[in-house]
Amino acid sequence: VKAFALIPAAGMGKRMGASINKQYLLLDGRPILAHTLSVFEKCPLITGICLVTPADEIPYCREEVVKAGNFSKVIEIVPGGKERQNSVMNGLVALERHASAGDVILIHDGVRPFISADLLQQSIDVARSNDGALVAVPAKDTIKTVINGIVVDTPARETLWQAQTPQSFRFSVIHEAHRKAELDCFLGTDDASLVERSSGKVRIVRGDYHNIKITTPEDLVLAEAFLAAQVQNGAP
Ligand code: CTP
Ligand code: MG
Repeated sequence: VKAFALIPAAGMGKRMGASINKQYLLLDGRPILAHTLSVFEKCPLITGICLVTPADEIPYCREEVVKAGNFSKVIEIVPGGKERQNSVMNGLVALERHASAGDVILIHDGVRPFISADLLQQSIDVARSNDGALVAVPAKDTIKTVINGIVVDTPARETLWQAQTPQSFRFSVIHEAHRKAELDCFLGTDDASLVERSSGKVRIVRGDYHNIKITTPEDLVLAEAFLAAQVQNGAP
């Protein structure tokens, strides 16, 4: 059984509000996307990486990120779609050329550079024996359901987890779930939700609070602080 990474990086980074796509912003002199790719490149359990970028950025990504960073495991760079779900679907179609039904696909946001090799390994293990493996952390805050400015519910905090990535599945499971969602015109905000809606059993892999998605400008401040702390601790 092999494991492949599918990295959606075809968004526009609107909430970051930078002049370039947020995944090319530099952290410690390297694009955020290069930090993310490094973790998968170095992990011996990963056979290949499928990268999804905006169609007009494919040449730039190939030269300035993949070739410049010597990422030899990148086997496909494919154009993204309107929504993240469409981008992931394009990646899955490209992976048909490489993956068998039972192989594990780890779907991981291009803008989550602090994923650890240990969580990749745990995700692969859990995805083999369940319908899905979802890296998540317990919610720290109390979360409210709000409609038109009025609180309508306060779900018990012990039951609430914040979904991160990777979200990992056997290829046949996630391919089928995406196909079904497309047929039903269902748009989910993550991949696990597509498997859940066809009664798939998705198991939690307890992640860590470093694994942030770089979304708004304050996340860059956090990211710089995490990098500085890694250097102090002598971590890679
Ligand atoms: N993504 C994608 N295709 C899309 C939209 C998003 O591949 N059509 C990717 C992003 O590039 C990112 C990941 O999905 O790596 C998580 O999405 P998000 O943080 O929302 O990134 P953006 O969509 O780029 O940001 P924003 O929503 O602020 O525009
Ligand atoms: Mg988005």
